Amino acid sequence: MKILLSEAQILDRVRALGRQIEADYQGKPLTIVAVLTGSLILLADLIRQIQLPLRVALLQASSYKGATTTASDLVINDAFAPDVAGRDVLLLDDILDTGHTLSTLVRHVSERGALSVRTAVLLRKIGRQEVHLEPDYWGFEIPDAFVVGYGLDYDDDYRHLPYVAVLDGPHAS
Ligand code: XMP
Repeated sequence: MKILLSEAQILDRVRALGRQIEADYQGKPLTIVAVLTGSLILLADLIRQIQLPLRVALLQASSYKGATTTASDLVINDAFAPDVAGRDVLLLDDILDTGHTLSTLVRHVSERGALSVRTAVLLRKIGRQEVHLEPDYWGFEIPDAFVVGYGLDYDDDYRHLPYVAVLDGPHAS
């Protein structure tokens, strides 16, 4: 496993993102909607850098891994994001890869009556995007490799690592 982003690098960047978000959402009814499970660590670190009143909500988005899987096979569970109508929503995810997940979620949250919807990701993979979506806030661009740590998993392991690392082996994309 090769460390790509150290704990210190990540925390520095998350602090800067927090300051940027804080400046942009002064006086606005901010709800941060985090996408489970990968963005949990980012959520915990980021909200502690934003000195504004804000709500936190959670969404789960899972895709069926069938032979016929398409973006529309994304199953969204928003039981823990009941109240986005009239709110300025910031959707928070761990990584922007093809962009299908986040763009589908932007549509979903807009349809639920959010006042505005912006997106934030810690990582974006270079050269992988299939759907046009420019995240409003992002931490780092990374090469096209499978990464784990800081919330990101392989087979539900490695999420607890405080850094982001490249996982070698057959699962690498
Ligand atoms: P899309 O392609 O919809 O994918 O932008 C976003 C979701 O795919 C997962 N993903 C990864 N998870 N290491 C991971 O642990 C990776 O390198 C990786 N690339 C994509 C992730 O769940 C993300 O929300």
